[in-house]
Amino acid sequence: MMNILIVGSGGREHAMAWKIKQSPKLNQLFIAPGNAGTSLLGTNIPVGVSDFEGLKTAAIENKIDLVLVGPEVPLCEGLHDCFLADSSLQNIKVVGPQKFGAQLEGSKDFAKEFMIRHQIPTAKYCSVTAGKLSEGLAFLKTMKAPYVLKADGLAAGKGVLIIDDLAEAEKSLKEMLDGQFGAASQKVVVEEFLSGIECSVFAITDGNDYKILPVAKDYKRIGEGDSGLNTGGMGAISPVPFADEVFMQKVEDRIIRPTVEGLKKDQIPYNGFIFFGLISCDNEPMVIEYNVRMGDPETEAVMLRIKSDFVDLLIGAADGTLAEKTIEIDERNAVAVMLVSGGYPGPYEKGKVISGLEMVENSFAFHAGTSFRNGAVCTDGGRVIAISSYGNSMDEALLNSFSNAEKIDFEGKYYRKDLGFDLR
Ligand code: AMP
Ligand code: GLY
Repeated sequence: MMNILIVGSGGREHAMAWKIKQSPKLNQLFIAPGNAGTSLLGTNIPVGVSDFEGLKTAAIENKIDLVLVGPEVPLCEGLHDCFLADSSLQNIKVVGPQKFGAQLEGSKDFAKEFMIRHQIPTAKYCSVTAGKLSEGLAFLKTMKAPYVLKADGLAAGKGVLIIDDLAEAEKSLKEMLDGQFGAASQKVVVEEFLSGIECSVFAITDGNDYKILPVAKDYKRIGEGDSGLNTGGMGAISPVPFADEVFMQKVEDRIIRPTVEGLKKDQIPYNGFIFFGLISCDNEPMVIEYNVRMGDPETEAVMLRIKSDFVDLLIGAADGTLAEKTIEIDERNAVAVMLVSGGYPGPYEKGKVISGLEMVENSFAFHAGTSFRNGAVCTDGGRVIAISSYGNSMDEALLNSFSNAEKIDFEGKYYRKDLGFDLR
């Protein structure tokens, strides 16, 4: 029996809390800082994800056995390393890579070098710093439009620019190097544009073995038909029709196994999740990006499809015993439909009372950005609630989520009604 602390406050963390809550291995569950939804499953601790001292104290006070880190920021900042370095925390397992391995997400240049070194299929690229601007400009000229420019460091999902015009791309490259994204764009990865359809593949690893979790596809744009601005994610579906057995075998052989083997060869300790952001170019998988955590909102669909004890998998990842574990997948489809605040991803208001949560049937309402205000569940972010459902088909699962999306209400509520449109 274990006490578990989940670090994070989004829909991903609520969905993980829901899954962990079902484990016979769980004693007590804590979430830092959590949200209104997670407080119904465990105890929220008002400590932020980057407050390492606060997290350490919370772990000791609550006799935590295992810490599951949801978002990338504390991993890239070295939360795991911080626990390892403290002799009073030696018995606490942390699921999530240490700072060095977290560079797979924290530095696009590190990730590209890793992929090239281990022959993992990815777009051609050139890393550019201010001192190497002329090389970068020359590389751009060898590429065809559109041009892909990526800030090397974490930029909260905003660091990728895709530009049609060469002159504009040259100008943007200079602006990025001049600090458009702060320190994150002191280095810029200029990349070949890949065209195809994307999907998200997840593996859990102990650094030696891995298990592949259900594949998903997320919808990033605010508008229907994938139009308008990028968001944190408007919904997700799992499985993904085009990611069939043949495709997934290629993914495992060319991408997942070489990645885990590559980490071993490079002697990079790594446990936790690897999120492979993939693009299928004529049925050939290529890596667009690595993330060192689960996806959000993909997790809100993926958790529904994991039948096995999730805590047992987390223990396997932390203890190096993943080879002894099995993962059983639910054959049903699962989807997550995100309800967002009016105006998001631009400016939006918080504190709108959310009604109808008690009327949800045949779906799970995973809170993404909510908090209690005067006893009422209120909006507290751009992405507010993910409504996750099962179905015997993607469309049946979507219908379940949409019917519950109508029952939940708050001023300004918006959601995309066309999820899966590109897959039918
Ligand atoms: P990232 O922040 O790396 O996930 O990039 C954001 C989005 O930009 C991805 O989800 C893709 O849709 C797109 N993107 C990134 N790199 C490329 C590329 N080389 N070719 C085409 N699209 C890309
Ligand atoms: N849904 C994409 C991400 O979590 O980065």
